[in-house]
Amino acid sequence: MNPTLDRPAPQHAAPLTLRGAAARVLIDNWTGASTVPSRTLYPHQWSWDSAFIAVGLRHLSARRAQQELESLLAAQWADGRLPHIVFNPAVPDGAYFPSPDFWRSSRAGRAAGAPADPETSGVVQPPVHALAAWLVHRADREESRRRGFLARVRPRLGAWHDYLLDRRDLGGGGLAAAVHPWEPGMDNSPCWDRPLQRVDPVPRGDYRRADLDHGQPADRPTDMDYGRYVRLATDYRDAGYDDRSARHAFAVEDPAFNALLIASERAMAAMAEESGADGSRHTARADALTGRLVARLWDETAGVFRARDLAADALIEENSVSGLIPLLEPRLPRHVAHRLLQTLSGPRFTAPGTCLPPSYDLTGHAYDPQRYWRGPAWFNTAWLIHRALRAHGRDQDAARLRRGFLREAERSDFAEYVDSATGAARGARRFSWTAALTLDLLCADPEEPTS
Ligand code: SER
Repeated sequence: MNPTLDRPAPQHAAPLTLRGAAARVLIDNWTGASTVPSRTLYPHQWSWDSAFIAVGLRHLSARRAQQELESLLAAQWADGRLPHIVFNPAVPDGAYFPSPDFWRSSRAGRAAGAPADPETSGVVQPPVHALAAWLVHRADREESRRRGFLARVRPRLGAWHDYLLDRRDLGGGGLAAAVHPWEPGMDNSPCWDRPLQRVDPVPRGDYRRADLDHGQPADRPTDMDYGRYVRLATDYRDAGYDDRSARHAFAVEDPAFNALLIASERAMAAMAEESGADGSRHTARADALTGRLVARLWDETAGVFRARDLAADALIEENSVSGLIPLLEPRLPRHVAHRLLQTLSGPRFTAPGTCLPPSYDLTGHAYDPQRYWRGPAWFNTAWLIHRALRAHGRDQDAARLRRGFLREAERSDFAEYVDSATGAARGARRFSWTAALTLDLLCADPEEPTS
């Protein structure tokens, strides 16, 4: 344990450096085995948050970064799924909705393999964990070997990817599908507006939204969105979270979700080789997934990847930052990478109020600069695009994005997201992944390979 992490902040401390301020957020949001995304809005452990948080924590304490991932993996279901929330039993039920008594994972999910303890949600989030585990390992190989980190996490990460490529290949085309808007992590993206029209919202009076106790209604999803989220989660729960028997009213193949799976398969290959095992199975899988991603989700006319609505078997005609994230893959066909770089630097994704790419097309009919994933700019997607630019040799663009990221993280007090028209901070402040990814951009070895 790094002793500086447990020292209380001095009462009349001098102003913190950006690095010190980011570290302070992560120290304050640490609960003993993992990190809450926000003390107010998100008081439990979230899946993709923990992966991004571990990427930053590795610069403070490799051991703590390992624990962050291990505590999430300890809540893995026997079918391989990694739940999107691991509930902290010390937090009162009313502090977050939907709470454990809604998901009832240990009972409703028993046949699907939910653990008896802890309670979790039943849906998943994007598979960025193996990439995070590889970066955490690289930060302190000695500590990783001493704790047997790779030996413990590799089988669980492998089972997680197998779950996605087996149980979640709902379209039969070899990509992983998301069955709830919480799964691609961009809850109220305009991409989901049409597929969600098939879902009957649960009436507002049947549940209580805890998010509005802490977040501004204009920054958050609408009540209509929430009614549909609750309906989908209820139906999935009532089908025992069984992907084979559940009737999914919402099923989409999301570009970022699958691009992160590809990046994580490449990380699995690297971790296998590092452990003296053969990584070729993972490399072959990453190559095959890249081919399917292009075949199923690339839209040549729009110059961006698009989500596929499986009920309509059609691409959803909306441009989201999710469609740019496949740029993470260094082996994309050259013309696809070229078009994506053009789209990234063009008018749809160059926001007036921020240097960070907005979550949704600025010229799109549903653009809203401040409402959650309908236009604001987020720091995790900016970090991924920074990595993607480096993977494609765009070092100057990456350096410019890095400078903008650090300026905005500081100015916004590590906001959850920023208004893409004005740059104003939105959502939670002192948000863990914003602080963690700030630390990573400040501290990572500039030569660290991107694949
Ligand atoms: N993003 C969701 C929320 O706002 C849950 O994952 O609570």
